[in-house]
Amino acid sequence: MSHARFVSAMGVLLLAGVLAVPAFGQNPPPPVNHDVQGRDNCLMCHTAGAMEAVPDAPASHAGRGNETCMWCHATDSPMLTTPPKAISHGVQGREQCMMCHTPGAMEAIPDAPASHEGRDVKYCTLCHTG
Ligand code: HEC
Ligand code: HEC
Ligand code: HEC
Ligand code: HEC
Repeated sequence: MSHARFVSAMGVLLLAGVLAVPAFGQNPPPPVNHDVQGRDNCLMCHTAGAMEAVPDAPASHAGRGNETCMWCHATDSPMLTTPPKAISHGVQGREQCMMCHTPGAMEAIPDAPASHEGRDVKYCTLCHTG
C-alpha cells in the first residue's frame, strides 16, 4: 500500500480506538492481572515503597481502604465499561447520600444498584462527581 493510504488507514484505526473508549471523566482502572485468592490485603504489596517490582497504587489513592480496590479493579468491574453518572445536584447539605439513594427510601430517586451494598458514603464521590 502507498504511504498515503497507510497513513489514512492508521487514522481510521486510531479513530476507532478513540470511539471504543467509553466517555470517562477519569482513566478506566487497569484490571487486576493476578489471582486474588488469599490476597485480600492489596495494600500490603501495592503501597508505594512496600515491594519493589510491584506497581504502586498512585498518590490519588491515598485514604482508599482495601475494601474499595475491587470495586474498580475487578476484571468485571462496571467501572471498566460504564462511566458512573455525574451527581445531578449540589452536595452541600446532602452528604448522607444513602438517606435518599437507598432502594425503597424515596420514590422517583434513582436507587444505588445492588453492587453498591456496603460502600461507605465517604467513597461515593470517588466515582460520582458533580
Ligand atoms: C502478594 C502481593 C500482592 C497482593 C496482596 C496483591 N497484588 Fe496486585 N499485583 C502484584 C504484582 C506482583 C503485580 C504485577 C503482576 C504482573 O504484572 O505480572 C500486581 C498487579 C496488579 C494490578 C495490575 C496493575 C497494572 O499496571 O496493570 C492490579 C490492578 C492489582 N495488582 C490490583 C490488586 C488488588 C485489587 C489486590 C487486592 C485484592 C491486589 N492487587 C493484591 C502483587 C500483589
Ligand atoms: C474509584 C476507582 C478506584 C479504586 C477504588 C481504586 N483504584 Fe487503583 N486505579 C484506578 C485508576 C483509574 C487507576 C489508573 C491511574 C489513575 O488514573 O489514577 C488506578 C491505578 C492503580 C494502580 C497503578 C497501576 C500501574 O500500573 O501503575 C494500582 C497498583 C492500583 N490502582 C491499586 C489499587 C488498590 C490496591 C486499591 C485499593 C486500596 C485501588 N487501586 C483502588 C481506580 C481505582
Ligand atoms: C435529599 C435527597 C438526596 C441526597 C441526600 C442525595 N441525593 Fe443524589 N439525587 C437525588 C434526586 C432527587 C436525584 C434526581 C433528581 C435530581 O437530579 O435532582 C438525584 C440524582 C443523583 C444522581 C444522578 C443519577 C442519574 O440517574 O443521573 C447521582 C449520581 C446522585 N444523585 C448521587 C448522589 C450522591 C453521591 C450523594 C451524596 C454525596 C447524593 N446523591 C445525595 C436526591 C438526593
Ligand atoms: C467504585 C465506583 C463507585 C462508587 C464508590 C459508587 N458508585 Fe454509584 N455507580 C457506579 C457505577 C459504575 C454505576 C453504574 C453501573 C452499576 O450499576 O454499577 C453506579 C450507579 C449508581 C446509581 C444509579 C444511577 C442510575 O441512574 O441508575 C446511583 C444512584 C449511585 N450509583 C449512587 C452511589 C452512591 C450513593 C454511592 C456511595 C454510597 C456510590 N454510588 C458509590 C460507580 C460507583
